[in-house]
Amino acid sequence: MLAIKDKKNEAGNSMRNVELFKSENHRFILLNESDPGEEDGIRSNQYLIMHHGNGVLLDPGGFGVMPHVLAEMLRYLEPPQIKAILLSHQDPDIVGGLSTWLEITNAPVYISRIWLRFLPHYGLKDTARFVGVPDQGMDCEPAPGFHLKIVPAHFLHSEGHINVYDPVSRILFTGDIGAATMPNDDQTPFVDNFAAHLPNVEGFHRRYMGSNKAIQCWLKTIENLEIDAIAPQHGPIYRGKAVRDFLDWFGALQCGIDLLGPNGAFADSTPAK
Ligand SMILES: [Fe+2]
Ligand SMILES: [Fe+2]
Repeated sequence: MLAIKDKKNEAGNSMRNVELFKSENHRFILLNESDPGEEDGIRSNQYLIMHHGNGVLLDPGGFGVMPHVLAEMLRYLEPPQIKAILLSHQDPDIVGGLSTWLEITNAPVYISRIWLRFLPHYGLKDTARFVGVPDQGMDCEPAPGFHLKIVPAHFLHSEGHINVYDPVSRILFTGDIGAATMPNDDQTPFVDNFAAHLPNVEGFHRRYMGSNKAIQCWLKTIENLEIDAIAPQHGPIYRGKAVRDFLDWFGALQCGIDLLGPNGAFADSTPAK
């Protein structure tokens, strides 16, 4: 059932506490979108999936946003109810606040296996709670009956990038895929018209995404998932027709290595044939 709602927080002017899906026993919530000043000018999204009182955090964010994320999370559950933390990739705006989350929860932390050896450089000395996600992805059952699918999305942009598919809400969390840099005064939580949204995503995807081959591999990987919404780590959530329109545009995109030439030059993007 599609239950993507236009709910803003009480203030009505920011992307906090936006319930993307709600049924009796299951919710998918955009907890917080950081303010520009909190994350070096790039706003980022932190998500909570809840199932029968258990929770999973997706990309809980950098050091500066941690108190805001916690405050929003406490509307729904207590830290011991968090049963897993999933990190789409290794960037500091995802991992930077993790040491505090490790202190206040007992949750295992899932990240691509190729980033495990780098995590101690974030000051995370005890890596016993980290689970290295294999290259092919994996099924994840953070609590009995709470099923999530960890989907590989290598080189989009990170060499070890994972997505998380929630089969109940049919929302695909895509990390930096679909990420947008929005004007500061634009707090719209959803993309309904992809053509109008394109200027917010085009430059980032052209430069940061690995290559069209990586995109084709990912599209093949997700082709059998029923996706009602795409929830990225930055910017608004794609729903309705915007989901298909984004995937079609992305599938034709030349990017990254496709465009790279000598002396650090990047060619203009042209649609892939
Ligand atoms: Fe990233
Ligand atoms: Fe990101």
